[in-house]
Amino acid sequence: MIKMTMKPPLTPLLAGVFALALTASAQNAAGTLPPAATQTGVTYSTDIKPILDKSCAKCHSGDKPKARLHLDTLAGILKGSRNGKVVIVGDSAKSLLVQAAGHVAEDHDIWMPPDKDTDKFPPLTAAQISLLRAWIDQGAK
Ligand code: HEC
Repeated sequence: MIKMTMKPPLTPLLAGVFALALTASAQNAAGTLPPAATQTGVTYSTDIKPILDKSCAKCHSGDKPKARLHLDTLAGILKGSRNGKVVIVGDSAKSLLVQAAGHVAEDHDIWMPPDKDTDKFPPLTAAQISLLRAWIDQGAK
């Protein structure tokens, strides 16, 4: 006889996955960016490097960085990826770096860190994205 009910262990598992997905997206719903932080004098070495080291650098460094984008040095960030610039100095909202980390696009493929890796690499918080924006708007020094 064919049983039509779900196996018991599956239901809590699915609920857990769903709850995780909700937590991840609640911070930054697609389409919205938090405003730039009001903090002045934001610099790469003091404010930005620690953030990117934690959430991004593992994949975006070394001999074969993903998308050929180095996110572990200022020079690498400013140079950009195999597709071109990811930072437009002075315009954080148009910078791919901010758009990817800030989950602006509906398309999750460009959400960074990738959805499947957020257990190891924490998505940026709204405060971190604000700081990233302030840094780029202030000249990405
Ligand atoms: C687990 C690995 C991993 C982590 C962590 C990660 N990325 Fe990525 N990133 C990728 C991969 C893979 C691609 C290429 C995606 C593609 O080409 O489809 C990519 C592409 C990108 C791109 C697009 C480059 C282009 O011009 O096409 C940007 C921008 C980016 N990442 C920024 C970030 C930022 C910012 C972080 C941290 C908040 C981050 N990534 C964390 C794996 C990662």
